Amino acid sequence: MNPVARRFSRAASTYDQGAGLHRHVGARLLEILPDPDEVGRGRILEVGCGTGVLTGLIRQRYPNASLCVMDVADGMVSCVRERWGNDPAMEYVVSDVRDFKTARPFDLILSSSALHWAVPLENTMATLQATLVPGGGLYAALMVDGTLAELHGLRRQIAPEKMPTGRLPTRDEVISAVEGAGFNLISRKAEAIQARYHSADDFFGTIHAQGLTAGTVSRAAQPLSRTELNQLRKAYDETCRDPSGGVKATFEVLYLAAKS
Ligand SMILES: C[S@@+](CC[C@H](N)C(=O)[O-])C[C@H]1O[C@@H](n2cnc3c(N)ncnc32)[C@H](O)[C@@H]1O
Repeated sequence: MNPVARRFSRAASTYDQGAGLHRHVGARLLEILPDPDEVGRGRILEVGCGTGVLTGLIRQRYPNASLCVMDVADGMVSCVRERWGNDPAMEYVVSDVRDFKTARPFDLILSSSALHWAVPLENTMATLQATLVPGGGLYAALMVDGTLAELHGLRRQIAPEKMPTGRLPTRDEVISAVEGAGFNLISRKAEAIQARYHSADDFFGTIHAQGLTAGTVSRAAQPLSRTELNQLRKAYDETCRDPSGGVKATFEVLYLAAKS
């Protein structure tokens, strides 16, 4: 199992406690989705379902459609299967989206806060294009570069030689991967979300409990020492205070709609 899949699988039982941000993003994504009449009894694929934050919204909005939920982390897929196991309209797949193939293309692909993990995005978008019927729709929300800028900035000051090796794609890189795969972009919208936490400790604990500290975007070749972590925590508490209490962290989200 790849490290991202392993980390998210382990986080399946604790993910929901800190998922306010992801619930917000899922609800905003819902606003740009097609009308239920347009989708009817169509086939929907949800990529990176996690614990089912978006899944529940999709089932409510498209009660007549069939829904295949997919995630690279088997712990996440088990979580969704436990909740909707009796729903005959649902199917469950453990797969890396980059390797996914289907003999029966989907009418709609939906994804919230997941596709930025599946890099290079060019390959992922090409796979999704091949997974849709002609004229099918891709509706997704992705985290982009600038997310957790406060944390990365402080980390650069405290341990510049221990920066993560990867970074999130920029908005332009996402758009170019979507269009490069042959999609016709219908709409895009950016949102900067300021999430609030009681303290730096609460913030670090929450993102870890959600599995968000996996992968090259968060991890350096060499981990921070205990002293560096303490320095980071202290500096975060001091410099990222939210006027209404606690600390804040920025998440940059790109919402997009495209047709194959
Ligand atoms: C931050 S969670 C979002 C989950 C859910 N969509 C939500 O809004 O709460 C990201 C999810 O993407 C999944 N994921 C990461 N890389 C993936 C890949 N290459 N293929 C499929 N799923 C992936 C993770 O396992 C995780 O469940």
